[in-house]
Amino acid sequence: MDKFVINGRKKLHGEVEVSGAKNATLPIMAATLLAKGRSILRNVPYLNDIKMMAHLLRVVGARVDFHDNVLEIDTTNANYFEAPYELVNKMRASIYVMGPLLARFGQTKVSFPGGCAIGTRPVDLHLEAMEALGAKIEIDHGYINANCKEMKGNKIHFSKVSVGATANAIMAAVLATGETNIYNAAVEPEIGSLIDFLNLMGARIEGKDTSHPIITGVSELKPADMEMMPDRIEAGTFLIAGAITKSEITVSNCIPEHIQALIDKMEDAGCLFEILGDCIRIFPSTTIKPVNIVTQPYPDFPTDLQAQFLTLMSLADGQCLMEDTIFPDRFMHVAELNRLNANISMRGNVATINGVEYLSSTDVMATDLRASAALVLAGLAAQGKTTISRIYHIDRGYDKIEQKLSGLGADIERISG
Ligand code: EPZ
Repeated sequence: MDKFVINGRKKLHGEVEVSGAKNATLPIMAATLLAKGRSILRNVPYLNDIKMMAHLLRVVGARVDFHDNVLEIDTTNANYFEAPYELVNKMRASIYVMGPLLARFGQTKVSFPGGCAIGTRPVDLHLEAMEALGAKIEIDHGYINANCKEMKGNKIHFSKVSVGATANAIMAAVLATGETNIYNAAVEPEIGSLIDFLNLMGARIEGKDTSHPIITGVSELKPADMEMMPDRIEAGTFLIAGAITKSEITVSNCIPEHIQALIDKMEDAGCLFEILGDCIRIFPSTTIKPVNIVTQPYPDFPTDLQAQFLTLMSLADGQCLMEDTIFPDRFMHVAELNRLNANISMRGNVATINGVEYLSSTDVMATDLRASAALVLAGLAAQGKTTISRIYHIDRGYDKIEQKLSGLGADIERISG
């Protein structure tokens, strides 16, 4: 297994370009199953999760070519409706094919996704949405069997904001007969991007970027060609890299409003920003002020930047709290950060961070995608040489992160295992 070796406390400089968004691309890949023909997705990042979804689409019969950051997905011969355990248990986002397969074939069999390092990851809201549209759901031997002769539009009330369940519900509703009203839908930018793609396919979806999208079912969709939006979590991760190394850097090819909650909190921590179009330049502060965070659905502070911001706060000039209301167990990085001399204690889903003067390098182990990004940030700030093992986690969500950081002047090297 590959490792990263980072010699810390190097000043960063220059500009880094953000890649396409993983969490926008994955549902859109699944959405291509709703039409027969060849869809083109551009600005697609080279990530293991994208490759896993491409493999799943091939399993259901699509032809997928991935070159020069372009995905060509031909679903003409898609004829299989099962998402097998060995794929779903590696990538939870496989559940995204449930809505499209049900809408296209009237049936689907998706392995029940297991939990992961950040939590149990239930899918009850996904299933409730499918049932609301007329699907008959049976759980059998760890598989979700969903059948529906004809999907019918309905009202779907989500008891909790769920990005995945919102995406699945919208994808299942676009070919349903009649109108579907979704209430308490997620309003993350990735959902807006999915709606853009579906409307390009010929769907009729109103209320983009609102918690109440209205879908008027159509009889057929056609393939589409779209550029993936920039990855807001990667953009935020690099801004924090600038803050934690006290470096002025520019993050380009991003959408600043997508990470306004982070920018606000980093300003509270003493950072200054210059925003010019799709570029954000950070001017870090000499001392990092402690800032309390409670993660919430968009547009509030995202859980996907919790581990990274917590790492920055480990060097703050005082004490602060970090509460994750979305994934209460998403704190596997805390134990590893404490091995780097951080001083963080946990009570339930709340971390108390007592800022320390410095982090000191040692060997640490990545446990999940965003935790591994946090450890990279810690390594950039730590005195000495930090080695991070199990970095396959980071390859799921960051495209060539070590090359991008090296381009900013970091001393980071991938050691192939
Ligand atoms: C998406 O996961 C993202 N993944 C996650 O990013 C992100 O952290 C999460 O949304 C929240 O923004 C992708 O887009 C591929 P949810 P998802 O359904 O859809 C509960 C990353 O690092 N819930 O919005 O699985 C759930 O337990 C990944 O890139 C139910 O109770 O998240 C959580 O507490 C990690 N029942 C809350 O809702 C359900 O049926 C929000 O989860 C579904 C979810």
